[in-house]
Amino acid sequence: MGFLVACVVSGFLVIVAICGRRELAEVNGGRMRLVGVGLRGLVLGLVYGFDFVWRSFKKGLPLSVRQALKLSTVAFIFSTVLATFLPDQSEVKSVLGDGGFCSISPPRNSAESPKYWKVTNPTLAPSHLQDLPGFTRSVYKRDHAVITPESQVFSPLPNWDNTLGAYLVSPAMGSHFTMYLVNMQEGSTSALPEKGVERFVFVVQGSVLFSNGSGSSHKLHVDYYAYIPPNLDHSLKSEMTTTLVIFERRYATLENYYPEQIIGETDKQPLLETPGEVFELRKLLPTSAAYDFNIHIMDFQPGEYLQVKEVHYNQHGLLLLEGQGIYRLADSWYPVQAGDAIWMAPFVPQWYAALGKTRSRYLLYKDVNRNPL
Ligand SMILES: *[C@@H]1O[C@H](CO)[C@@H](O)[C@H](O)[C@H]1NC(C)=O
Repeated sequence: MGFLVACVVSGFLVIVAICGRRELAEVNGGRMRLVGVGLRGLVLGLVYGFDFVWRSFKKGLPLSVRQALKLSTVAFIFSTVLATFLPDQSEVKSVLGDGGFCSISPPRNSAESPKYWKVTNPTLAPSHLQDLPGFTRSVYKRDHAVITPESQVFSPLPNWDNTLGAYLVSPAMGSHFTMYLVNMQEGSTSALPEKGVERFVFVVQGSVLFSNGSGSSHKLHVDYYAYIPPNLDHSLKSEMTTTLVIFERRYATLENYYPEQIIGETDKQPLLETPGEVFELRKLLPTSAAYDFNIHIMDFQPGEYLQVKEVHYNQHGLLLLEGQGIYRLADSWYPVQAGDAIWMAPFVPQWYAALGKTRSRYLLYKDVNRNPL
C-alpha cells in the first residue's frame, strides 16, 4: 500500500514535470487545479500500481518493487528532460493535444462565431480592414503619399547579399532622395551607394556592424544610426535578422564644407527647444552647413498635436516608429499607425495629431542648408 502511494507521488511528479510552471503558476488561482494535477497523478500512479500487482503475482514482491521503482524513476527523468527541451509549454500542449493532458479546464470554446457577428462586432480599426480584399490605406498623390505596410513590396537589393529592400520614397515621386526599408538576414553585407551619394542608416530591429575599413568598427543596435558622406567606402554586416531604414541623396556640395562620418545613438541626442510646440525634438545630424539634410526624431504624447500647420519648401520622408494618430496632408486627413511611411512634397500643407494610448514617435527626413534656387 505504501508503495502505491509512492507510485501516486511519482505520477504526480511526472505531470508536474511535463505541465510544469504553467500548471503550478495557476495553483495560487485555485486549489482545484492542484487537485486536478493530483487526480491525474493518481491515474498514472494506478498504472504503476497495476504493474506492481501484476509483477507480484509473476515474479514475487522484491523484484517487482525494484522494477516499478525503476520504471517510475525513468519516467520521471524522461519527462523532466522533455520539459527542459520543450520549455515552451504550448509545444508540449500541441504534442499532447490542446487542453487535454495538461489542463483540467475544458478546451477553449472553439465553436464557430455567431452567424451575424460582424454586424454586432464591426471591425472599425483600419488595421483590421487590411484583410478586406483590395483594401489599402495607401495613397499616392501629386504632392504626398502614404505607404502602409500591406502595400510594401520587397525585392533583392542589387549587390547586397541575402537582403531585401522596399523603396518607399524615390525620385519617381518627385523627391530628390530615396527612403527605403532593408531586411537583412543574419550574416548579410551591404553594397555601396552610387558615387556622390550620401547615406543615412537607422536601425529599426536587430543590429549591424559598421566599418569603413580603417579604424574600429561600430556595433549599431536599435535606435543607433550612421551617416556616411559621399564616396566613403564602408560596409554594414548584419549580426542577426535586421531591419534598417535608409535615406540616400546625391550630396549637394557647398564650397569649403565637407560632411563627416557620424555614428550616434538617438537617446544620447539632446532635446531641443521647440518654441510654441509641445512635442519632443531630437536632431540626429549636426545643423552645420556641411550637411544638406537632417533627420528629426519627434515624440508626441497622446492628444498632443502640432501647433503650426506647416507649408514650406522642404521635402519630407517620414516613418512612424510608434503610436498612432491623424496626419493631415493637403486636404486629406489620414489615420496612421506605426509602420506607415509618408512622402511630403514641397509646400504640401501638413499637420499631425497623436491619438491612441501610447507615445507617437516618428523619424523625419528634411532637406536643409541649401538655397532652393
Ligand atoms: C572611419 O571610421 C573610423 C572609426 O569610426 C573613424 O575614426 C574615421 O574617421 C573614419 N574614416 C573616415 C574617412 O571618416
